[in-house]
Amino acid sequence: MTAKIVVVGSFNADLVAYLERMPRPGETVHGDRFATSAGGKGSNQAVAAARLGAEVTFIGRVGSDVFAELAYEIWDAEGINRDFVSADVEVATGVAPILVDSSGENMIVVVLGANSRLRASDIDAARERIAAADVLVTQLEVNLDTVQYALETAKQLGITTILNPAPAAAVPQSMLDLADYLTPNETELETLSGSSGDFAAAARTLLTRADQTAIVTLGAQGAQIVSTDECETIPTYAVDVVDTTGAGDAFNAGLAVALAEGKALAEAVRFANAAAALSVTQPGAAPSAPHREAVDALFTQNL
Ligand code: ATP
Ligand code: RIB
Repeated sequence: MTAKIVVVGSFNADLVAYLERMPRPGETVHGDRFATSAGGKGSNQAVAAARLGAEVTFIGRVGSDVFAELAYEIWDAEGINRDFVSADVEVATGVAPILVDSSGENMIVVVLGANSRLRASDIDAARERIAAADVLVTQLEVNLDTVQYALETAKQLGITTILNPAPAAAVPQSMLDLADYLTPNETELETLSGSSGDFAAAARTLLTRADQTAIVTLGAQGAQIVSTDECETIPTYAVDVVDTTGAGDAFNAGLAVALAEGKALAEAVRFANAAAALSVTQPGAAPSAPHREAVDALFTQNL
């Protein structure tokens, strides 16, 4: 069965400088290499889901500039439906200047641009497509009222929802309540819950329904599944890290596709870990999203 995924989210042109170490405030350092590539959490998740074999529709907003061409190029190359993407004539495409150091860690500035002008009407236009999906995935990199509306629409239509609450932002509980799966990293969990340390306890403060699940991503430690009464850590695969940008995006795409295909939750998280682990072995965000064969090959290996 082909997974049908709708992603409501951002596109950014990633302007990436690779360097030995991060500059301190006021300091200038030399970079080793520079790349411009397709990014944005929403688009990265759409690309990763398409490479995992899903039928993907992207709902988003870009500008009418040269960076929008970068978006169209990757969506068309990956077979992603863009019927519900609008081109804003007043505001530029989102951009993200990114620094990546020699350990693979990153620092990112996101200038949302057109992403912040995604509207409820853009979601309404895609209502039938959402109704036909298995899973709707969204993040916090577009207008937050629209994120809320997209989740409400999916829930009304009985569609499974994943909210990747990234980048870190405080959001109303009413938005969290609409997510069947919440996928914060450690920082995002701390921002949402106001507490640190015990991830399961912090995650449980966000859950208001017995059928809701938080999946806290823990970098090289894998991910922790937390529901109101259970908690399980799913370790990940040991890999050589080149660039962690987009790891969370590959994880969310893997989770969405695996759930849509009917995998049990722990297996779905292990599949998501495999997709994300492979993504950190390659540079870039969308460019590092792995293809299905590679993920299946890793997934079938013992940890
Ligand atoms: P990013 O912002 O870099 O995209 P994130 O901070 O949102 O990532 P992380 O928890 O760091 O999220 O990573 C997401 C997932 O990526 C992890 O749950 C894990 O599956 C995978 N991952 C991240 N780092 C590593 C690593 N060093 N080795 C293997 N897998 C990793
Ligand atoms: O998750 C990685 C993404 O975050 C980058 O592609 C960048 O555009 C920012 O949105």
